[in-house]
Amino acid sequence: MKIGNIEFPKNPVFLAPMEDVTDMGFRHMCKRFGADMVYTEFVSSDALIRHVNKTQAKLSISDEERPVAIQIYGREVDPMIEAARICEEANPDILDINFGCPVKKVAGKGAGSGMMKTPGLMVDITKAVVEAVKIPVTVKTRLGWDNDSKIIVELAEQLQDVGIQALTIHGRTRAQMYSGEADWSLIGAVKNNPRMHIPIIGNGDVTSPEICKKRFDETGADAVMIGRGSIGSPWIFEDVKHYLNTGEKLPAKEFIWYLDILKDLILKNISYSGERGGIIHSRRHLAASSVFKGIPDFKKTRVAMLRTDSVEELFSIIDNIPAQFDMK
Ligand SMILES: Cc1cc2nc3c(=O)[nH]c(=O)nc-3n(C[C@H](O)[C@H](O)[C@H](O)COP(=O)(O)O)c2cc1C
Repeated sequence: MKIGNIEFPKNPVFLAPMEDVTDMGFRHMCKRFGADMVYTEFVSSDALIRHVNKTQAKLSISDEERPVAIQIYGREVDPMIEAARICEEANPDILDINFGCPVKKVAGKGAGSGMMKTPGLMVDITKAVVEAVKIPVTVKTRLGWDNDSKIIVELAEQLQDVGIQALTIHGRTRAQMYSGEADWSLIGAVKNNPRMHIPIIGNGDVTSPEICKKRFDETGADAVMIGRGSIGSPWIFEDVKHYLNTGEKLPAKEFIWYLDILKDLILKNISYSGERGGIIHSRRHLAASSVFKGIPDFKKTRVAMLRTDSVEELFSIIDNIPAQFDMK
């Protein structure tokens, strides 16, 4: 599978763009475990063209995470063109446009999945961005606005016709937000539409190697994208890729191995954002990590982990977990 000139291995698995999650430290970690492409958090085109420092910082990428996509969102043609050019200067491999974000502050203003209500404008913005930059442009979107307006099959053709080089589909409508189950049948319908020739990346509720394989098999998708299943569990990419490539599950590692990975992530985050910032960036991962699920009476430890802003204290809490629960 190729996007532009970028060649991917068989059954590629991508890290989904996630605000406040897919910062540089986490992207590096997912890359280390085999993610075939990573995305920045979404970046507001309006904030970019106003040169807001915090937004510009989100454009920082490094060679070791390539191929990497920068994702932008917005609701007007001209600011999106300008923002796309600013992003291109940051030298990503791909520029991705977000037409999927359901949150009110974005969709309510007509950007993100709000654009599902104005598909003509969505296509116009996409065409303008494709023409404004030399790097491949891709789109990430949903099935439609709500259950009565699942427009993705037709929309995919229109986006392809204006020159996008891949399309990611999250199998939910805007109205669903993150509730219910992702419906992959329409992702399959887009992939199997004989008019479509660009790669289709499927997304939604992939949390295990088995689910990932099932989604590839039943839709023929060119790649699968994993979001929430990776938060606090960057090793999911290694587990999934191993299963896809061999048909066998990687044996679980010792508990301490997972703790060491989380500590590595914390140290990485600290190296980018200082002690306090790095710890704050790491909290979401500590809160969500699959490795702590099902440990009895874990609440007190979890609260302590999420409260401290000293790395020494945090590591001491983490190092104590195996003894506390008699795990080695
Ligand atoms: C915390 C969080 C932040 C997200 N931020 C973005 C974003 O910046 N851009 C985007 O396209 N999607 C964003 N998403 C949506 C994910 O990329 C993905 O489409 C969605 O979570 C479904 O995939 P999953 O079931 O594997 O998590 C976000 C999701 C979460 C949970």
